[in-house]
Amino acid sequence: MTTVLGIESSCDETAAAVVRDDGVVLSDVVRSQIAVHAPFGGVVPEIAARDHLRAIVPVVEQALAEAGVCLEQVDAVAVTHRPGLIGALLVGVQAAKGLAWAANKPLVGVDHLVGHLLSPFLKRDGLVSPEPLFPFIGLLVSGGHSAIYRCDGPDAAEMHELGATRDDAVGEAFDKVGKLLGLGYPGGPVIDRLAQQGDPDRSFTLTPPMAHKDSLELSFSGLKSAVARQLALKAPEGEQAVADACAAFQRVVVDTLVTKTLRAARRERVPNVVLAGGVACNGELRRRMAEACEHRQLRLFLPAPRNCTDNAAMIAYAGAVKFRMGRVVGFDMAPLTHTELPRVTRKGRGLRDA
Ligand code: KG4
Ligand code: ZN
Repeated sequence: MTTVLGIESSCDETAAAVVRDDGVVLSDVVRSQIAVHAPFGGVVPEIAARDHLRAIVPVVEQALAEAGVCLEQVDAVAVTHRPGLIGALLVGVQAAKGLAWAANKPLVGVDHLVGHLLSPFLKRDGLVSPEPLFPFIGLLVSGGHSAIYRCDGPDAAEMHELGATRDDAVGEAFDKVGKLLGLGYPGGPVIDRLAQQGDPDRSFTLTPPMAHKDSLELSFSGLKSAVARQLALKAPEGEQAVADACAAFQRVVVDTLVTKTLRAARRERVPNVVLAGGVACNGELRRRMAEACEHRQLRLFLPAPRNCTDNAAMIAYAGAVKFRMGRVVGFDMAPLTHTELPRVTRKGRGLRDA
């Protein structure tokens, strides 16, 4: 059995975890920087890098202590080396290099998106949930990324983008709409909660973005602007009106994500579906995707919410898979801002209804 120490610092979470290659999580420490960035309404890259620098050693120490292992007992050190904020990535990468060098352990570089897509393989607290089966359609929806992948295996070379956002990520849209509604940062979880009390039909009507029948591409910046226009015309008055606006926005987002994911499964003739990324915590998305998959006789694998948001357990697991394949990197490895999963979707303005 292989045991890997994973380190994650690509955005605003400083995280370290110890995970076995069967997916069992021995420890998982996440220190969120949300409070540090909240006054700015979003992640400030330089502040993120400085905060990672403060947190990284205590977080790694805690992860090793909670797993009951010392550095000498792990088989490899895995670290997110792409994609992400470069200053933030540098902190995790340099820490991982120092640890691997000092303890004479192999170093593995993990793509953050591959980590998210493998997150449903994690097993925690003795809970046994069925392992995803390959091939699967992976809907990865987070604050920085939104795309649909066909995954034929756990290696990045077996993961193919079928469609991605042309502009904003879904989580970014949740956060921007949250800001417009004065709900603080990050807006996603608050919108999710308020929408439960809201009635989407009592609020404004929004057109689903990129609704063209063939497209697997996504676009959320137009939707965000549409919400901004509606709010400028008539600002919601009172808690109920805000909840109704949240419900209207969330419904159109979930409609889009469910439709496109099912379209991908049908087109690729793939019977398994995986949700990943922070937005996969969304209650309505989880419920509606489960209903739709059941209706179409697709098997849905939903990671626990704790596995959806950024964490190092998914990085350690993806690292263990790579380590098993002999894919270690040298100490000259440098982080990169973009993913290794090839993009097929052009960035830029989404065509209207195309
Ligand atoms: O995966 P993640 O932790 O970080 C990135 O890699 O980006 O995702 C964070 C994003 C944020 O935009 C946050 O608002 C969103 O996930 N999010 C949610 C929910 N929980 C987190 N969005 C909608 N509903 C939620 N319950
Ligand atoms: Zn992420």
